Amino acid sequence: MEWILGLHSLLRWLILIFLIVNIFRSMVEADASYTPDDTKWNLRLLIIAHINLLIGFIQYFFGSKGFAFFKESGFGEIMKDSFKRFWAVEHITGMIIAVAIITISRGVTKKDLPDLVKHRRQLLLYSLALLIIIACIPWPFRHLGSPWFRGLY
Ligand code: HEM
Repeated sequence: MEWILGLHSLLRWLILIFLIVNIFRSMVEADASYTPDDTKWNLRLLIIAHINLLIGFIQYFFGSKGFAFFKESGFGEIMKDSFKRFWAVEHITGMIIAVAIITISRGVTKKDLPDLVKHRRQLLLYSLALLIIIACIPWPFRHLGSPWFRGLY
């Protein structure tokens, strides 16, 4: 399972980079037309986010941090323990919401809307997803047992 966790950890950086690229594009090109390249960058983000969602579910249900905590203790106890609460509740909830927002942004590419509206709507959705993902990543300074780069040190 260690390599799966390494992949999950690594894909976090790709998701962040793709989100920033998409945000940059929707800001810089706000006055320009909505191009097939915009649709492609949106798709790249969607694919990577969905892959990490799937890997996350595997870890959550088959790993030691996540659903396993519910087998050991009750919901009340988990909510009192910040470490268990993060892994059993906060990380999964936040990330599912963020991936749902990214999925909604995919729908915008297909709608018959003025290009300016598409860029603006996506800018809002990407920014929201970025904020939630940043808030729900187990950054090393939060002392949740995760490094910056899993497997490198
Ligand atoms: C798609 C956005 C997601 C991002 C960016 C993300 C990011 C991360 C990162 C950076 C770690 C730490 C890895 C390490 O310790 O090296 C992690 C761990 C973990 N994630 Fe996610 N995650 C996402 C979605 C999910 C989802 C949706 C779930 C649950 C369904 C999930 C479940 C887990 C679990 C259980 C761990 C801990 C695994 C372990 O240490 O045993 N993740 N995630």
